[in-house]
Amino acid sequence: MTVPTDLPDFQGLRVAVVGDPIADLYLHAHPRRLSREAPVMVLRHLSERIGAGGAANVARNLRALGPSVSLFGAVGRDTNGRELARILGADEVDISCLSHIADWTTPTKTRVLAALSRRFPQQVLRIDREPSRPVPASSRAELAGQLRERAGEFDAVVISDYEYGAVASEVGAVASELAATGKLVVLDPRRDLELFSGITALTPNVEELARFVGVEAARLDDAGALRAAAVRLLADGACRWLLVTRGNLGMALFGEGLPAEGVAVEASGSGEVTDVSGAGDTAAAAFTLSLAGGFGAPEAMVVANAASGVVVMENGTAVCPWPDLKAALSTTPAPVRLGRPSYT
Ligand SMILES: Nc1ncnc2c1ncn2[C@@H]1O[C@H](COP(=O)(O)OP(=O)(O)OP(=O)(O)O)[C@@H](O)[C@H]1O
Ligand SMILES: [Mg+2]
Repeated sequence: MTVPTDLPDFQGLRVAVVGDPIADLYLHAHPRRLSREAPVMVLRHLSERIGAGGAANVARNLRALGPSVSLFGAVGRDTNGRELARILGADEVDISCLSHIADWTTPTKTRVLAALSRRFPQQVLRIDREPSRPVPASSRAELAGQLRERAGEFDAVVISDYEYGAVASEVGAVASELAATGKLVVLDPRRDLELFSGITALTPNVEELARFVGVEAARLDDAGALRAAAVRLLADGACRWLLVTRGNLGMALFGEGLPAEGVAVEASGSGEVTDVSGAGDTAAAAFTLSLAGGFGAPEAMVVANAASGVVVMENGTAVCPWPDLKAALSTTPAPVRLGRPSYT
C-alpha cells in the first residue's frame, strides 16, 4: 500500500456536516508596555476578525476540497452567529438548516494575539464565551428531523461534536439509522459514543480515545497500548473504522480489513508547524471525502494526514485547498503497520 497518486476532484460529491459551529475571534494587538495597574502587558488593539471554527471549520474544509456542503446546526441570534452565517454563505455552504436560536450565545473563542510585527503573532490569552445551556431540545429535534428528511441528497455525513449540544440522542439515532442503510457517516466524537451504532468511522484524537476507554492519554504514545485501546473501542460496535489523530505523531487506523496491529502514518509536511488548532477538523473532512470518493480507509488516512499537515503550517484555523492537497500527496509519508517499519 502506497500513497495514492491520483486525487479525485470531489466536485460532484455532496456532504452534510452536523454539529456545533464555533466563532473563532482573533484579536490582533501590539504590545506597548507593562501596566501600572497589575503585572500585565498593555496592548494596543490593531484589528479583529472572526473565523469559522468547530463544525463550521469542517464545512469550510470540505468546501475547499470541492464538494457541495450543507451545514446542520445552531448558532445564537447574535453578532457572531450572523457573522458565521455570512462567512459560510460567502463560501457557498448551504446554511438553510442552520438555526439561529434566540437568547442563546454563539460559542466564541477569542484569542488575543500580540505581535511586534504582523509576522509572528503570539497568543497571550484565550477567552471562551459559552451559552449557559446546551442547544435546546426543540432545536435538536428540528435539526435531526431535517437531516433525516434530506439524507437522500448526501453522499456522506460528517458529525462534528464540540459539546454545545447539537449532537445528542436525536442526531445519534438518525446517524445510526442512516449508517444501517449504507450511508457513509463519520463522527469526530467528544462523548456519548453509546448513542451511535454501526457508523462508518470515528476520528477521535488520542485524548478523546483515552477518555473513552478510561486510560491515561500519555500511555497511548505506546503502539501496544494504542492498539489495545482501539480494539476495546471497536468492540463496542459504534463504528467500522477508527482513525486516531495523534498530533505530531501522525495518525493510526484500525478496523475492518486491516492488519490486526493497525496501520499508521507519520505526520506530514516539511515546513514549520505554526498553529495546530482545527487540524482535527481538516482530518475529519478529508478522511470522509476520500472515503466518499472511493478510496479505501488506509488511503483515506494518508490523504487526511496530508491535508492536516498543510493546515498546521498556517495561522488560525485554516483550510487545505484541493490543489495544495494534491501537491502535498507527492511528499506525504506512506502508511506502515503500527509499530513496524513497513506496511506489506
Ligand atoms: N505538531 C504537528 N506536526 C505535524 N502534524 C500535526 C501536528 N499536530 C497535528 N498534526 C496533524 O493534524 C492531525 C490532527 O491533529 P490532532 O491530533 O491535534 O487533532 P485534534 O486534537 O482533534 O485537533 P483540533 O481539535 O484542534 O482540531 C494529526 O493527526 C496530524 O496529521
Ligand atoms: Mg478534534
